[in-house]
Amino acid sequence: EADNGYNLWLQYVQIEDVNVRQAYIEKLNQIVYLNDNETINVALDELNIGLSGMLGLSDVSALVNSEKINNESGLMLATYSTLSDGLKREFKSDFNKINEEGFIIKSVIINNVSQIIITGKTEVAVLYGTFRFLKLLQSHQSLNNLNIIDAPKIQKRVLNHWDNLDRTVERGYSGFSIWDWHRLPDYLDFRYTDYARANASVGINGTVLNNVNANANILTPQYLEKVAALAKVFRPYGIKVYLTARFSAPMEIGGLKTSDPLDEDVISWWKQKVKEVYQFIPDFGGFLVKANSEGQPGPQNYGRNHVDGANMLAEALNPFGGIVMWRAFVYSEHDTTDRAKQAYSEFVPFDGKFKDNVLIQVKNGAIDFQPREPFHPMFGAMPKTPLMMEFQITQEYLGQSTHTVFLPKFYEEVLKTDTYREGKGSTVAKVIDGSLNNQKLTGIAGVSNVGTDINWTGNVMLQANWYGYGRLAWNPDLKAENIANEWIRMTFSNDIAVVKTIEDILLMSHEAVVNYMTPFGLHHIMATGHHYGPGPWVANLSRPEWNPVYYHKADANGIGFDRTEKGSGATDQYAKEVSKEFSNLNSCPEEYLLWFHHLSWEYKLKSGVTLWDGLALKYQEGVNQVKQMVDYWKSLEGKIDQQRFKEVEMLLNIQLKEAKWWRDACLLYFQQFSKKQLPQGVEKST
Ligand code: GCU
Repeated sequence: EADNGYNLWLQYVQIEDVNVRQAYIEKLNQIVYLNDNETINVALDELNIGLSGMLGLSDVSALVNSEKINNESGLMLATYSTLSDGLKREFKSDFNKINEEGFIIKSVIINNVSQIIITGKTEVAVLYGTFRFLKLLQSHQSLNNLNIIDAPKIQKRVLNHWDNLDRTVERGYSGFSIWDWHRLPDYLDFRYTDYARANASVGINGTVLNNVNANANILTPQYLEKVAALAKVFRPYGIKVYLTARFSAPMEIGGLKTSDPLDEDVISWWKQKVKEVYQFIPDFGGFLVKANSEGQPGPQNYGRNHVDGANMLAEALNPFGGIVMWRAFVYSEHDTTDRAKQAYSEFVPFDGKFKDNVLIQVKNGAIDFQPREPFHPMFGAMPKTPLMMEFQITQEYLGQSTHTVFLPKFYEEVLKTDTYREGKGSTVAKVIDGSLNNQKLTGIAGVSNVGTDINWTGNVMLQANWYGYGRLAWNPDLKAENIANEWIRMTFSNDIAVVKTIEDILLMSHEAVVNYMTPFGLHHIMATGHHYGPGPWVANLSRPEWNPVYYHKADANGIGFDRTEKGSGATDQYAKEVSKEFSNLNSCPEEYLLWFHHLSWEYKLKSGVTLWDGLALKYQEGVNQVKQMVDYWKSLEGKIDQQRFKEVEMLLNIQLKEAKWWRDACLLYFQQFSKKQLPQGVEKST
């Protein structure tokens, strides 16, 4: 029995229990659809794949008709406008609760026969409802008395591909880019459709195709033609295409002498360019921009600022309904006191100055996708500007595609943190879903972990991060635990022992990686460049803020980055309640201790042990947790298919080896400063 993982969480394997299967079959004697549209067609295709697989029906299409309901129980797909007047009345209050993408799945009785209606205001909403309906069967739930009403809380739910035009992927660990530029536009790889299905199944509705470190060529007609071909595949699935715009494109592909955003020729070049883009792709989503960050060109090259740059592009896009996602990931070599403070200092003064179709895209933390970071202080600090969350799904600093780390657990932690910007309860989730400051435009981005590997993400366990990102983008208040549960049922099995075991592994995995890499708020101590494995000793890179020693500051007196008033003062960038909490040693959560404080090796932790002992014990705890993950996984042998079982087993064994490597390397290195023995319970280096 082999499964290569290609089908992700859309496995649709036959339900073994005949009774369960029969109960479903009896409810599905016909499938009626009332709209003739490409999106409804893909919903019907999905029902076909899903129901034939799960129920073992040989010809689902024979059940489908576009007529009115016969006297048979079944399923009906319809948008609001095609519903009968009776149903419109019956569903009125439900429709009031949902937006354009929200759906309703409801059991009703029509002519004494029970029907399941999947409806919404748009065809895409019906498609989302169809995927949710299939999920009910995938997780063996009852189809009786259905009453599901659900709508996304965030408007732009986007994946960011850091894919280059030569098909390499920056920070990609799952093969090459799935965009086959060479053979586009005429050759449409079947993966494009499966990619769209996977995204639509969780409600992702946008994709930025190219790297934030962009090549301007993507904006030439030769490439736009290829982009248009992809957009056409994605369109029925409700997915819009976006591109990263390189700020210096007017010079690189336009022949201009400058890219100054206030220069008349530059302004009209971009207007013309945007017009051309919309000729190719009428529903183009807009631009993502990385400007004046890590050597990328931007308005500051011309003495202009982020507002000048973003608004110029926003004006060009505005007539067509496009948006600008302007990134806040900036730091410069000129301000070397604390990199963590720079984005806030550069952006917050511009609050309220950006055009209505600009979102500022902010990484979850102020440094860079570390295993754990306190939330970025910009969240909540710009009430007049829509802020987008940028999470990283690909695991640049988290063991790449080798280590199993269930990221929704961490995303949840960030989203539910209270910024206190409008008083208690001002969570990060409320900032990005717009409810805290009544934003008209809202968005969230995830840096994709998808590549050409058969299983898409290099490690089947990490498919859960793509899935979970999508679920949280739809509803940032969901619980990681529930996301894990759904994903396991759809991906592996409904056997309760399997579900429970994998759930345990997933839910402990994030804490484990933090423990064996960067406990107590340590950060950015990975090896240089590739960021895989430990490198806390690195001290010789040209820019100080690239060196791990800049972040841990270990010496004979202690360890940690003082960001309180006495140090860099970064804590001042938070609301005063939060700033107080982080600055005060009694209230600072131990998870962030060394993020905000420089403490002596003898400092007493809450547990009563010294910081040195505690640190060593945390590294060991991380190793122990991975051991546990390996053992749990072993117990699944024979309960899931052999191929995925073996693959994950091998990867977990590597993870265990490397957790020890992290422990040993970091403790040996820090021990030169602490000059202390390892406490009882910590294994000697192997
Ligand atoms: C990190 C990453 C880079 C990436 C950058 C960004 O620094 O290492 O590869 O380009 O983030 O988000 O822009």
